[in-house]
Amino acid sequence: MDKLVIDGGYRLSGRVPISGAKNAALPILIATLLASGQHTIDNVPELVDISTTLSLLGRIGCPSLVAEPGGSQKRGRVVIDTTRIAFREAPYDLVRKMRASVLALGPLLARCGEARVSLPGGCAIGVRPIDQHLKGLEALGCRFELTGGYVHGRADRLVGAEIHLDFPTVTGTENILMAAVLADGVTRIHNAAKEPEVADLARFLRSMGARIEGEGTSTLTIDGVPALRPSREPHSVLPDRIEAGTYLTAALTTRGDITVTEVDPRTLEVLVPMFQAAGATVSSGEDWMRVVCDERPQAVSVETQPHPGFPTDMQAQWMAAMTLAAGTSVLRETIFENRFMHVPELMRLGAEIQTRGNESVVEGAPHLTGATVMATDLRASASLVLAGLAAQGQTQLLRLYHLDRGYARLVEKLGDLGARVVRVADDVSVPVGSIQAAEPSDSRAAG
Ligand code: EPZ
Repeated sequence: MDKLVIDGGYRLSGRVPISGAKNAALPILIATLLASGQHTIDNVPELVDISTTLSLLGRIGCPSLVAEPGGSQKRGRVVIDTTRIAFREAPYDLVRKMRASVLALGPLLARCGEARVSLPGGCAIGVRPIDQHLKGLEALGCRFELTGGYVHGRADRLVGAEIHLDFPTVTGTENILMAAVLADGVTRIHNAAKEPEVADLARFLRSMGARIEGEGTSTLTIDGVPALRPSREPHSVLPDRIEAGTYLTAALTTRGDITVTEVDPRTLEVLVPMFQAAGATVSSGEDWMRVVCDERPQAVSVETQPHPGFPTDMQAQWMAAMTLAAGTSVLRETIFENRFMHVPELMRLGAEIQTRGNESVVEGAPHLTGATVMATDLRASASLVLAGLAAQGQTQLLRLYHLDRGYARLVEKLGDLGARVVRVADDVSVPVGSIQAAEPSDSRAAG
């Protein structure tokens, strides 16, 4: 097991290239199951969850090739061959590692009329049921049995339907969308998720011949077609707005000057007024956004909401910034029932936080002090990194596998911004203050 060691207190500045969005790449890679042939997907991030998804496709009978960094193939390119489907199952050992494997339900039912997927089970941030997924797929004509921890679905024929979601579930919308594209007739998904990642999936499906309207709105209209074929052009996954937001928030915690590049600033719009209210200046261009924060940030309260509201995936990172802000802020989490696992760990760094139900009240402190902390989930880990970068002294972050799921080349990217950070085995001791600034890597040269 590895750990991250950070000598905190250094101002971060510079440019950082953003990778493809994990939460767009996962459904897009799985959507290739809908059409037999060879698919090329670009800008796929180098993440553990991507490897898990490709292992799942491999188990189903669909091999893939990933471009080696520095090799002849374009970085981030993945080629998948979905000519044959040998197994119609997403097994427990993979679903346990990555609950998004449940997205295999829709495509397997649409292409093969059958799917057997392990129930994902809960995770650190909540129970995470899939009742809305099943409700929508049943409306299309699927029948499910729940046995032995598995959902076993069958569908002789999928027929278009009017589907009303109780909640704009992101992967629920995606699962139903991926089944509806091959249903007979028209499907409307009401109260659909409007996240940019859902829109990117819709664009990919359309490039395969699907007929979809309304992505980015709360009603998706799908006119089913008899078959899809691989897209003629490689699909490039949209940039990761949460990775971008995470690095931009480091400008608040370290009073820095950070530019994220290779992004779509429109997907970051909701964060701009928050950064400005905290006292930072924000500028942006066609594919970049810059946040500069020379003073101690001001306290700004947030409430997470489905898109286009403040993203729940940014709540933990924002809290890290608020632990150092001037004043008191309230963070209300309305999406998940247990998404404050970062609070006790932030308090180990000296943060002053009181949590009651789905609200955390943060009393900004003049500074934080480094300590050994433990990651519990992906975004909580990111929050602890942001706090450790600002804390005086050394912070050690354990259980790095959480971070590896969602942040590609983290140490390299942070080093390029001037952070003193190393990744070492967890039994290695690193003397405080001994970490040297990294030599600029190719990403700075590229940036
Ligand atoms: C997606 O998860 C993302 N994951 C999450 O990102 C993100 O936090 C979440 O959307 C919200 O934006 C991927 O896209 C792979 P939901 P998802 O279904 O689809 C309840 C990250 O850090 N619900 O929108 O699982 C559910 O319990 C991850 O990158 C039901 O009750 O989220 C939750 O409280 C974490 N029944 C709420 O809805 C259902 O059938 C939001 O869930 C489905 C969901």
